[in-house]
Amino acid sequence: MLKTALIMSAGLFAASVSAQANLFKPEDAVKYRQSLYQVMAAQAGVIGGMAKGDIDFDAAALHQRAINMSNAASLLGETYFPETRGVAASNMLDKGWEDREGMQAKGKDFGEALKNLVQVSGEEGFDQAQARQAAGALFKTCKGCHDEYRKD
Ligand code: HEC
Repeated sequence: MLKTALIMSAGLFAASVSAQANLFKPEDAVKYRQSLYQVMAAQAGVIGGMAKGDIDFDAAALHQRAINMSNAASLLGETYFPETRGVAASNMLDKGWEDREGMQAKGKDFGEALKNLVQVSGEEGFDQAQARQAAGALFKTCKGCHDEYRKD
């Protein structure tokens, strides 16, 4: 189960095939996508809070948050089909559609950093210093994609 989630989040944007347009209206798919990012941001808030010491550190809880993020991220791919490009509510830049490979590379960086956090946070003795390092690396990949492919 965990393994599946990890594999799926590593292949984050691989599933952006037009077939998904049969399942979701473009407007609904953008809402769905933004909601997934909100779920991810909520997990990131707690993970970051624990890493910084603003929230009491709890390795098991942090590990679970990383898994939650992974599960949400695994659903993103099906929201990225071409018909969502024209949706007014979307804050994705056209550049993301024109440079699919570049954006997928950012998705891969994110998938790998998240996989690492899930892994290390599940290991015996995982501590706050390790959390700061792994979470910091993960959050850099969020920003790395937003800087290039999302409206400010
Ligand atoms: C590979 C690119 C990519 C990565 C990695 C990424 N994002 Fe995003 N994010 C986007 C794009 C594109 C949008 C705009 C989606 C839209 O409006 O269609 C977005 C939107 C968002 C939003 C706004 C959602 C809304 O309600 O409009 C939040 C919050 C967010 N991302 C958080 C995160 C967090 C936290 C991470 C890392 C843990 C992350 N993102 C990683 C590309 C990315």
